Amino acid sequence: MSTNLDGSATSYDVAPLRLSVVGTGYLGATHAVCMAELGFDVVGVDVDADKVARLAAGVVPFFEPGLEELLRKNLEAGRLTFSTSFADAADADVHFVCVGTPQLPGGHAADMRYVDAAVSNLIAVGLKAGSVVVGKSTVPAGTAARLAEWLARDAPQTHLAWNPEFLREGFAVDDTLRPDRLVFGFADDITPDSPAVVAMEAVYGPLLAAGVPVVRTDFATAELVKVAANAFLATKISFINAMAEVCEATGGDVLGLARALSYDPRIGGRFLAPGLGFGGGCLPKDIRAFQARADELGVGAALGFLADVDAVNLRRRDRVVTLVTELLGGDVTGKKVAILGAAFKPNSDDIRDSPALAVAERLRRAGATVTVYDPAALANARRAYPELNYTDEGATGAARGAHVVAHLTEWMEFRELDPAVLRPVVATPLLIDGRNALDARLWREAGWTYHALGRPRA
Ligand code: UDX
Repeated sequence: MSTNLDGSATSYDVAPLRLSVVGTGYLGATHAVCMAELGFDVVGVDVDADKVARLAAGVVPFFEPGLEELLRKNLEAGRLTFSTSFADAADADVHFVCVGTPQLPGGHAADMRYVDAAVSNLIAVGLKAGSVVVGKSTVPAGTAARLAEWLARDAPQTHLAWNPEFLREGFAVDDTLRPDRLVFGFADDITPDSPAVVAMEAVYGPLLAAGVPVVRTDFATAELVKVAANAFLATKISFINAMAEVCEATGGDVLGLARALSYDPRIGGRFLAPGLGFGGGCLPKDIRAFQARADELGVGAALGFLADVDAVNLRRRDRVVTLVTELLGGDVTGKKVAILGAAFKPNSDDIRDSPALAVAERLRRAGATVTVYDPAALANARRAYPELNYTDEGATGAARGAHVVAHLTEWMEFRELDPAVLRPVVATPLLIDGRNALDARLWREAGWTYHALGRPRA
């Protein structure tokens, strides 16, 4: 018996499909668990034996609220297995390709080697006749067409669909089981009874029944939806951060400005939070890869603004480094800086392109003694930036003896700090709120000099 999205029993059974999910990183692990939760028989395949062993033992190798519980539930139900062998995927009806497409070292384009390896490994095991390969990785436009040709040549018994994923870290389960929308990309010659169409409608049957809107389109559009969405979100963040720069020059207050803008329903308040800007494993590399692909296609000028979006974003990091330096009298050498936050955003242990750690590392290189605290990302940060100092003793541990405290990732734990309690711990009560998330009045009343990006110095 399968369940509805609210956990109650459905009046129908999900199609008796076996699914494989290739790549068990953020996207793949979440997708595998959620598909099992919908009632399908799922095998997750990854070349990383450690990751596979952990998932098979019921341990999620990253921080994602609610995922581990669902992983264990579905392992116990016998619907979900993990393997390092592609042979275990051979009998699946639908194969989701969920591997990473990182930025190429030394370039802006996406590194397609993992996608190509996934497809090549699937072909090599001899896929079932009528089985469907579904691309979920974020890829440059044109990839699906290339893979379709490859499959038509080397695995003509299979079919391809493109199905981008929009999940946000920290909300991955909800975004997968209750997405805003589904996008299905198909070859131009498909008909309603084509295996790719039938498979997608069956796999997402429970979500479609729950009323999730779906856009059925061609390969190129499906690929573009993902990068266009991320480009838009990045642009919105950089827009308000550009306004913060202007506020800094005019004495304006970017928080008041953002609030006033947000009441215009055409603009809206989401992704309009000014601060240290965006990081993570998606937005930065996706806008660069999108631009690189547009250049290749001869439409680079159309996306030229994304270089500015990137530059505005990176300038916010410069701004915090400059502000710390200014507050410390022009030279950070030998000064103690406390950094609150290491993850690229709260409720995550992901430090990929973390603005907080980029600032911490630059201050360390400039000669400051930098101590970082984060509620979840310390282990990852320690591995990536071994030369920074870390503390497990919370914000207080980081702030002890500090000449300046920089709040760079807006965890709830930091919002709830009592500035009066932290005050006697530091050498100088100087605070930079890099996320505009703390209560300025409260901090000032407790004797701190409070600075924020894009806001007047009171
Ligand atoms: C993003 C997209 O939201 C998601 O749809 C896509 O599938 C993957 O990329 P994610 O990287 O998990 O998801 O993070 P998100 O919540 O979008 O935040 C991205 C970054 O922007 C974070 O560093 C966050 O701190 C920053 N941000 C977000 C702002 O600086 N201001 C905002 O108003 C919103």
